[in-house]
Amino acid sequence: MIVCDKKEGLFTLHTRNTTYQMKADSYRVLLHTYYGARIVGGDLSYLVRYTDRGFSPNPSEVGHNRDYSLDTLPQEYSTCGVGDFRIPSIDLELEDGSRIADLRYTGFEVKKGKYSLEGLPAFFGDEEQAETLVLFLEDTAAQVGVELYYGVFEQCDLITRAARITNRGGHPVRLRRATSLCLDFQRADLDLITFDGGHVIERCPTRTPLRQGVQSVGSVRGTSSHQHNPFVVLCDHDANEDYGLCYGAAMVYSGNFEAAVERSQFESSRLVMGINPYHFCWPLNPGESFTTPEAALVCSTCGLARMTHQFHRAIREHLIRDPYHGARRPVLINNWEATEFHFDADMLVSIAKEAASLGAELFVMDDGWFTNRDSDLSGLGDWVVDQNKLPGGLEALVPRINDLGLRFGMWIEPEMVSEDSQLYRDHPDWALRAPGRAQTRGRSQLVLDFSRKEVRDHIYQVLKEVLSSANVTYIKWDMNRSLSDVWSAGLPANRQGEVFHRYMLGVYELLERFRRDYPDLLIEGCSGGGGRFDTGMLYYTPQIWCSDNTDAIDRLRIQYGTSFCYPASTMGAHVSAVPNGQTGRCVSMETRGIVAMSGTFGYEMDLNETTPEEKEIIVRQIEKYKAYYDLIQRGDYYRLTDPFEDGPYTAWAHVSEDRREALVSLVTGTMHAAPPFRVLRIKGLDPSFCYRVNDGEEVYPGDVLMQAGYPLPMLKDDYQPFQLHLKAE
Ligand code: GLA
Repeated sequence: MIVCDKKEGLFTLHTRNTTYQMKADSYRVLLHTYYGARIVGGDLSYLVRYTDRGFSPNPSEVGHNRDYSLDTLPQEYSTCGVGDFRIPSIDLELEDGSRIADLRYTGFEVKKGKYSLEGLPAFFGDEEQAETLVLFLEDTAAQVGVELYYGVFEQCDLITRAARITNRGGHPVRLRRATSLCLDFQRADLDLITFDGGHVIERCPTRTPLRQGVQSVGSVRGTSSHQHNPFVVLCDHDANEDYGLCYGAAMVYSGNFEAAVERSQFESSRLVMGINPYHFCWPLNPGESFTTPEAALVCSTCGLARMTHQFHRAIREHLIRDPYHGARRPVLINNWEATEFHFDADMLVSIAKEAASLGAELFVMDDGWFTNRDSDLSGLGDWVVDQNKLPGGLEALVPRINDLGLRFGMWIEPEMVSEDSQLYRDHPDWALRAPGRAQTRGRSQLVLDFSRKEVRDHIYQVLKEVLSSANVTYIKWDMNRSLSDVWSAGLPANRQGEVFHRYMLGVYELLERFRRDYPDLLIEGCSGGGGRFDTGMLYYTPQIWCSDNTDAIDRLRIQYGTSFCYPASTMGAHVSAVPNGQTGRCVSMETRGIVAMSGTFGYEMDLNETTPEEKEIIVRQIEKYKAYYDLIQRGDYYRLTDPFEDGPYTAWAHVSEDRREALVSLVTGTMHAAPPFRVLRIKGLDPSFCYRVNDGEEVYPGDVLMQAGYPLPMLKDDYQPFQLHLKAE
């Protein structure tokens, strides 16, 4: 609910459990007055206090009133060059070379339904589900207008934000920074949690108390990156899964981003999130506008679990689009780890046949299917089926797969080109590369300049021919290097600061074209695993390959970190062969199965090479996944332990929304002799229900399972799995 008091300049956004408030003061400076637990209302600007602080200057209109300074006030969209020395939300360069932005409130608008952002991913909601508030700000000297957009999703406690900057004057201006959100707190006793790592070790939570100064994470790689996820949490020092105030913030964007928090000299703090200002400069000619990507906020007043549940709900209901919004995802078999580049049609059919007999639903042909692609040194860009490996092309292969009862899907990497390819020989200037410099290779490949429409049009045409040649129902859209040498032959020198963002807009545009022309196609995102795992990509690709690391024990950590923002239905997770390719570790088929089952499930191995006993396990695994699909994909996810603590086990649970059913999973860590008897305290159950365990004789009340716990059997082995299915009587 949005409540506007025009006379007082007071704007209050209520969601089911939270309230967010802003006020335009008598100088029309837009102040942030409150974000936290839902309150009845009232004007919270009494919390903003004024006093003379040394070296905090005063705007001219306050005269010699030294108590009023932008440096000490909580701002809704921070300015620059006019006395607030904390992180700015905007950096404007005017024609005269000045770098000042002084924004004042001029008006507002409220609309039913959620705003959308042209060409950018965004949460969506109809008139019943969401409302929009637009606040208008203006720098009168620069003649630049800023519209602040707020999307309010009451049920999910979700507030989205974006800004649109318009040059209303007669001279060009240059935008050097424009954040999607700015969030000021009049306190600094907060912890910052970021999700960091690298290739094959994505999204490990790092938690630190705020210290004076700026702490930031971000990416300048052209993708949101394996190294830092564009999702951060600010929370009370003592917040945990079940207790404390927590604020989660996610960039709905897949390119360069920055999330920075500043703890000020006066114990206030500010979070800003937006496009990374590195190499960003957007000229605005008179009349032109720039729209920032969206950022999404969830506040939980009772710990991290609630924040997670609200993000999961919002992503499932308001970000994943039809037909995959709510639709079941197929159990897949992917040939990559089994064959890499070395396969032919019969090998693929044999892998598919075995998988079909065990219950798989979709066969995915990975990298290596196109001409001149026997290694990662060549071929990218020439999207034509290799007739040596696949005689008769997809027209011959796909019916053979379909005859086994499997759907067919395939890998592509549209944004890339190999130097050893016809495409590169024909169009060397289509790759990003600065004039007069040798190219920097990544995985021996170059990046196509997706800021250019003719490049995207060409890639679309060739891929369309492949996709239209057979019954293809799924693509894995990969992206296997970071962007370097970022310079576009399609733009003049003074517009090169647009290239990173235009590249991302180009990727979104092409994804949208595929969605429009192949509405039923399921697209799985991938960037060497989880290098572009963000809410921006999820708008186009309802699931994303979580990590190239398929080791079940490492995956416990990767999926744990990923779960803070992203639901199970978005996390590609597969059972692969042992010893594991990344770690050399051997764990049982059961263990690999229950870990992968907490995502969009599949296998990435040649199942012909498993033993008869393992095959039986696989059949049961797939049956179980199908039976518990709704519970896993739509239930509330509870982290019962933290796998980074190296405790005796890692445990997690999926609990149905009505609390009548739960699937509790556990994998032991490194065990030691003479282990104690252990009990597992379960979360999220209804205390008044009685739950039957695994359809057997055992029945326990919900409050007993949550408070006293379930007595675990003696688990003695390393990496041993254990699963409990609870059903209310
Ligand atoms: C990336 C992906 C893998 C696989 C290979 C193929 O690394 O993450 O899953 O598709 O590319 O080259």
